[in-house]
Amino acid sequence: MDQAKFIAMVGGDGEFSYQRMGVLQAHAGRRLEPLLAEAVKHMSLPQGPLHIADFGCSTGRNSISYMNFIVKCITDRYVEAGENNGHVTGMPEMLVSFNDLPGNDFNTLSQLLASEAKDAKDLAPSINGADVGRASSYFSAMVGGSFYNRLLPKESIHFAISRFCLHWMSQIPATVTDKSSPLYNKGRSWILGGNPTIAREFAQQSMLDLDNFLDSRAAEMVPGGIVFASFVSRRDAANPENQVNPECHHCFAVGPDFENAWNDLIDDGVITTETRDTFNLPIYGRSKEEVEAAIIKCGAFDIQYLQSPVDEDLCPEDELMHMLQFPKSFAMFLSAFVRATNGPTIEAHMGRHNTDEFFIRYQRRITARATSLLSDPKAQQEYKIFRVTFLHVVLKRKTAHTLSDVNPGVHVSQIDLTPTDSSTSPRLKLASCSP
Ligand SMILES: C[S@@+](CC[C@H](N)C(=O)[O-])C[C@H]1O[C@@H](n2cnc3c(N)ncnc32)[C@H](O)[C@@H]1O
Repeated sequence: MDQAKFIAMVGGDGEFSYQRMGVLQAHAGRRLEPLLAEAVKHMSLPQGPLHIADFGCSTGRNSISYMNFIVKCITDRYVEAGENNGHVTGMPEMLVSFNDLPGNDFNTLSQLLASEAKDAKDLAPSINGADVGRASSYFSAMVGGSFYNRLLPKESIHFAISRFCLHWMSQIPATVTDKSSPLYNKGRSWILGGNPTIAREFAQQSMLDLDNFLDSRAAEMVPGGIVFASFVSRRDAANPENQVNPECHHCFAVGPDFENAWNDLIDDGVITTETRDTFNLPIYGRSKEEVEAAIIKCGAFDIQYLQSPVDEDLCPEDELMHMLQFPKSFAMFLSAFVRATNGPTIEAHMGRHNTDEFFIRYQRRITARATSLLSDPKAQQEYKIFRVTFLHVVLKRKTAHTLSDVNPGVHVSQIDLTPTDSSTSPRLKLASCSP
């Protein structure tokens, strides 16, 4: 089945919407600003119109804030260039293409753009005089389609970003959902901790997806253009079934309690075993080695930045500790967070009613977990439910000259960045977790 038809996050701004629950991704996104600013410095500045694209923008709150930040960094570069040598005399007009799957709620994005895209004059009052009359510092376009295909014209993008998206697969391998296949993923809803051969099927599909993403962007980027991608990764290069860091208890919200909620649903007679077995989370965390191999295979990009995967807490430690004091409301929050991102995929598989029933059981499991942690401070400290392993990559599109000069084995990380201190990140405003 083609996942691209339904993967999109929950739209609108209701209880389970990505608009509300994407607050955790926003928190992690702000930590990336120093790397993003460095990446912009590596971009070649055009004299004419400048095109930025976000691949996987969802309903927009986070995407618009990345765009405001990128546009601000680019504006600063033009101001600086103008002050230093006078070659760049004016700000280019900028176009931002917001891409997501066709099922994405682009209406919410469009409304937010009207209110949240930065005013041109806020960014560079001195240089934007000529832009008077334009409400926003950039023009915008919405592009529905899978980023695993070509979406935009050849050599048209100067800066591309994809944040929190590339771990979503385009489809589940057919062998894994075929009851007659030896690779049928029986007894599970994902590959985490499962059969390594089945996990390798996911790996193959995911590598094909990454090849398609890189080849498509290779065609669309201008020479010297920058691709900034940050997505869920894993540390264990050899064993793809080890999707989460084994040192971390209950990392990632789709771990043991998620799997057990499926078992509860079967035990309670709500769904059959087959309904669960034919569902598979379309997520695959690639290792650094897999990503590096795909970039080399593509051959169109120089790697500006690619370091080992890093563990990041989407929720600050003290906020999580506070929330854990109130198991029921914590479970409601966590469940809404998981539903905002995975709900549409589950619902497409087994309908609204069964999905509601699933999340009732997930909440029950989480409430029980959080309650048991109340009497065990050590286990509570180790409960890193919002810890995710990420890989951040910055690529530069080769020019015709450097393309003929390909040296596939050698990569220089040109962006040198000391790890950011998460304690300096802005504070999160989470849903209230008092009883
Ligand atoms: C977790 S959201 C991230 C949204 C935003 N970038 C952020 O940082 O908050 C992942 C987004 O990727 C989109 N997505 C997944 N697969 C996609 C594909 N093949 N093409 C385009 N968008 C895709 C989903 O629809 C979803 O909106």
